[in-house]
Amino acid sequence: MNPFMKKYGPWAVVTGASSGIGCALARQLARHGMNMVLVGRSVDALNRLATELHVAHAKCECRILALDLNESNSVAALLDFTKDLNVGLLIASAGFGSSGPFLDNPIEPELEMLDVNCRSLMELSWHFGNRLSKRGNGGLVLLSSIVSFQGTPWSAHYSATKAYVQTLAEGLAMELRSKNIDVLAVAPGPTKTSFADRAGMSMGSALDPQRLPPRSWLR
Ligand SMILES: NC(=O)c1ccc[n+]([C@@H]2O[C@H](COP(=O)([O-])OP(=O)(O)OC[C@H]3O[C@@H](n4cnc5c(N)ncnc54)[C@H](OP(=O)(O)O)[C@@H]3O)[C@@H](O)[C@H]2O)c1
Repeated sequence: MNPFMKKYGPWAVVTGASSGIGCALARQLARHGMNMVLVGRSVDALNRLATELHVAHAKCECRILALDLNESNSVAALLDFTKDLNVGLLIASAGFGSSGPFLDNPIEPELEMLDVNCRSLMELSWHFGNRLSKRGNGGLVLLSSIVSFQGTPWSAHYSATKAYVQTLAEGLAMELRSKNIDVLAVAPGPTKTSFADRAGMSMGSALDPQRLPPRSWLR
């Protein structure tokens, strides 16, 4: 068995697997031979991914859980669904953003964002952290963002939710090291997924590698 699977296998839970970064990470895990619980609201997209992964990697077993992480009982449902599985890795990629003047945006989607980006992620980290601790090894991968590192006007609340994730992950990375649990905060810059559409953002030239500074500037 390869060292990756030995530490994090045989099962991973991937939230936000129906699209974007979570979907891309699930594809990478399948190449390592990981079985996965794929979580999201879009059942069709999850089914398509499960079929794709099974066709590409015959031994990869995927189970689908349609779940709205905005709902308060959603984490309990996920824990129940995975109770008989030997989960060694959690990837918490489910999340979304918003943009525009904070005071002008309706409050309901902001509260939903707080639930999905922070509350559910914290609950999952606590529950799976305890399961991994009993197991004696494993990993937590928490999706933060480049905007987590400072306040971001016109995306003030989204960046605040990501600051929460980044800070939680940094603290847990030290705290859980002695338990042989790796914690990674992933802080991507602008990435071409469905994210911008849902957030009402225009990433413009930030998505265009041709518009980045010349390599010589980056040395
Ligand atoms: N794209 C970027 O530029 C960027 C940059 C930095 C950080 N990030 C972070 O990366 C993570 C993944 O985003 P992405 O770029 O891959 O965007 P995406 O393509 O829109 O994917 C978001 C994922 O989150 C899931 N999700 C959203 N709301 C949900 C809910 N209420 N319950 C359950 N699942 C929910 C979506 O699934 P369903 O729609 O099926 O529910 C989808 O699978 C997010 O946490 C985002 O904040 C993205």
